[in-house]
Amino acid sequence: MSYNPFTLEGKTILVTGASSGIGRATAIECSKMGARVIITGRNEERLEETYRNLQKADHKFIVSDLGEENGIQNLVSQLPAIDGVVHCAGITSNLPFQFATREKFDSIMDVNFYAPVEISRLSIKAKKLNKNSSIVFISSISGVFISSVASSIYCASKGALNGLIKGLALDLASKGIRVNSVNPGIVETNLFDAGLITKEQLAVEMNNYPLKRYGKPEDIAHAAIYLLSTASSWVTGANLLIDGGYTLK
Ligand SMILES: NC(=O)c1ccc[n+]([C@@H]2O[C@H](COP(=O)([O-])OP(=O)(O)OC[C@H]3O[C@@H](n4cnc5c(N)ncnc54)[C@H](OP(=O)(O)O)[C@@H]3O)[C@@H](O)[C@H]2O)c1
Repeated sequence: MSYNPFTLEGKTILVTGASSGIGRATAIECSKMGARVIITGRNEERLEETYRNLQKADHKFIVSDLGEENGIQNLVSQLPAIDGVVHCAGITSNLPFQFATREKFDSIMDVNFYAPVEISRLSIKAKKLNKNSSIVFISSISGVFISSVASSIYCASKGALNGLIKGLALDLASKGIRVNSVNPGIVETNLFDAGLITKEQLAVEMNNYPLKRYGKPEDIAHAAIYLLSTASSWVTGANLLIDGGYTLK
């Protein structure tokens, strides 16, 4: 076999949010790199579509709502021992702070922050994360490097993730478990079609990207593959910024 430090051959990787966008691309690309993937999402039909596009056999899919405590427990209870996780499940919110409620904050924080926290915590407790595993959180440039109007709730959820990563990386280093984030700029996915921004605004905004395009889900998947592989075995507590140069300006 040819030399490839980025291979995922022999590794089992959990990908959340695998029914769509970045999670779907991450699952498919990880399978192409040789991983066995465990995919999870809420929508069974779309999850099955991802499953059909995976390379090789022996993958597994688990339908679970990660906004619910028992959905998280259901997922972790069905997990085999894993070598890595990519936390992609996430939702967005576009609400001026003046109209925000505690319930709205809770609903975004539950999926974007507490779900990856609890999946990580319960997997470690149940000894399902193998030694030298890698945990990857898909964060954002929002709330970490930039912000925009009406994004305080989303920004808070992503900023919290980046704080968590710093602490978690230190606490898990003795187990050889690495913890990192990928922080994407705008990526063309369903989140992008959510109607939060018009097509005209998107065309104008693209000009603010020095590389003159938005990200593709595979751009983020490939960063996750690097962080899952032994190529990044000395990388922990890092935020991998992938934004076509957007935050340079
Ligand atoms: N797209 C961007 O521009 C961008 C930029 C920066 C960061 N991000 C981050 O990247 C991640 C993926 O976003 P995306 O653009 O790929 O979005 P997407 O296409 O809308 O996919 C979101 C995924 O999250 C899952 N999900 C949402 N709520 C869930 C819940 N309660 N339980 C279980 N799964 C749930 C969805 O599953 P179902 O469809 O099955 O419900 C779906 O698979 C998010 O964390 C997002 O914040 C995206």
